[in-house]
Amino acid sequence: MHTLSEYLSIVEQALKDLDYPSEPSGLYEPIRYILDGGGKRLRPVLVLASCEAFGAPVETSVNQAVAIEMFHNFTLLHDDVMDRADMRRGRPTVHKKWDERTAILSGDAMLTLSGMISGIGCSDSQLRNVTALMQRTAMQIYEGQQYDMDFETDRDVSVDDYLNMIRLKTAVLLGCACALGAVMAGADKKSVEAMYSYGERLGLAFQLRDDLLDTYGDPIVFGKEIGGDILNDKKTWLLINAMAEDKSGVLAEEIVRPSEPAVKIERVREVYDLLGLPQRCQSLIDTYVDAAVALLDGVRITPAARNFFVRLAEQSRSRNY
Ligand code: IPE
Ligand code: IPE
Ligand code: MG
Ligand code: MG
Ligand code: MG
Repeated sequence: MHTLSEYLSIVEQALKDLDYPSEPSGLYEPIRYILDGGGKRLRPVLVLASCEAFGAPVETSVNQAVAIEMFHNFTLLHDDVMDRADMRRGRPTVHKKWDERTAILSGDAMLTLSGMISGIGCSDSQLRNVTALMQRTAMQIYEGQQYDMDFETDRDVSVDDYLNMIRLKTAVLLGCACALGAVMAGADKKSVEAMYSYGERLGLAFQLRDDLLDTYGDPIVFGKEIGGDILNDKKTWLLINAMAEDKSGVLAEEIVRPSEPAVKIERVREVYDLLGLPQRCQSLIDTYVDAAVALLDGVRITPAARNFFVRLAEQSRSRNY
């Protein structure tokens, strides 16, 4: 197995080596901008590590790693329009630096590029598996994103609705990444499914932590503006539980007649704090990380590979960006 930093440099190099046109610049510059903007590169690392865990060299799955990072960045371009978000990875979002129609079209091109890249280096049967997996995952993400938007104006969202929504919009892509690496390594179906489940549990923890950081993170470290979820009335685990438990009426008031943005964020956060919600949200994150780690026991990988995936999960408990 390689180390995390070795996987990261393989991903960066592969992204740098990507060959696509420069003109029209209005289409391609935003793609270079978002791909050069850093990010954790978690999904491509999962692809490469999963591939090596089943005994194949990383090169076997480097195109699928690039394809999934390209796909992820496409979803970010559109997500930032949908969420009215002005900052990502510490820089203006594409729709702020350019405009919304640019974010839509460059995003479309990234989706197509991702599909083109994902098939490179596949045998016929791998191509069938990779394509089916990527397409199913993409449809699930769109469903999750629609629920996420629908829930902004829905007052009756349950914790189960929320968990299903984040499974769709976020967790399945981490599952898909783990499965892709295994497929490219020629792993059997049971192993592919087990790795998918690990990624999916990790993804639930990942989105819960993202939601926690959206309210409690440091914008400089997190790279995104804080409080966007509160301003959009996103039905996060924090807000759903606060709405059920808040006796002060502050939340209901802020949803019907919102104060100016900074005041609304402050008032809602005070309710969360009073109810001890950040700590309780963190315990749920821990539960999903534990579940992800436990799932590794059912997979036949080397101890070194297992250690890698355990450490990755452990790090996601307390990540700050
Ligand atoms: C952002 O994903 C979208 C979510 C699912 C929360 P990441 O937090 O992985 O974003 P980058 O790629 O590291 O910037
Ligand atoms: C991200 O959810 C889900 C997708 C991008 C598909 P968020 O909207 O919470 O992600 P961030 O916080 O903008 O990165
Ligand atoms: Mg969103
Ligand atoms: Mg968003
Ligand atoms: Mg978020």
